[in-house]
Amino acid sequence: MQLDEVLRRRRMTRRFATTPLRPETIDRLLDAARRVPSAGFTQAVEFVVLTERAARQRFWAAVAEVGWAEGDGTSIVAAPVIVVPVVSPLAYRDRYAEEDKSASSLAGGDGWAVPYWLVDASFCVLALLLAAEDGELGALFFHLQGNEAAALGALGVPPRYQTIGAVALGARAADERPSGSPTRRTRRGLDELVHREGW
Ligand SMILES: Cc1cc2nc3c(=O)[nH]c(=O)nc-3n(C[C@H](O)[C@H](O)[C@H](O)COP(=O)(O)O)c2cc1C
Repeated sequence: MQLDEVLRRRRMTRRFATTPLRPETIDRLLDAARRVPSAGFTQAVEFVVLTERAARQRFWAAVAEVGWAEGDGTSIVAAPVIVVPVVSPLAYRDRYAEEDKSASSLAGGDGWAVPYWLVDASFCVLALLLAAEDGELGALFFHLQGNEAAALGALGVPPRYQTIGAVALGARAADERPSGSPTRRTRRGLDELVHREGW
């Protein structure tokens, strides 16, 4: 698929078929996430990948899945793969303390006006979503309802790591249709969004 088609077609999926994804398919999606830009090429975003039923159940129990799904309440939980991107801010502090970054205003301080670890994790998520669409798969990025620490703890992730949410992946259910806010709101046009040469 051409990039513009991927971008136009991509949308969040909230009803998944339970069919497992092949390991090579999952790896292709993760490889896309690995290729995103990262601040200082820190490449500190790592991925906890859940395919086994027991692991996914531990995850869903920790994030209190009730209230997530549309319809019967099981549709998102049916997704055969969950990817949780995790990242440690300490990796960025260490990276910007290295010699080639020592002149940066970020070196050695806590003055991160923009938390680059969250920027990098967001880029990874977008790459996953686009790669899923390219493979004609469904994907949903969702927040963890304030249960981020509990979810990471349940998965055995060391406490220095943070997450921004998780991505559910899988084939779209046969009865899957566009859902969520875009069914109630229209996409804003460039004339509303773009401020040329200043505000
Ligand atoms: C930061 C962020 C958090 C989101 N959290 C959720 C979520 O928890 N549950 C959900 O169903 N969708 C979630 N979404 C998906 C948005 O609702 C969706 O991207 C938006 O309505 C546009 O629809 P589209 O992605 O299908 O084009 C989230 C998206 C973003 C970017």
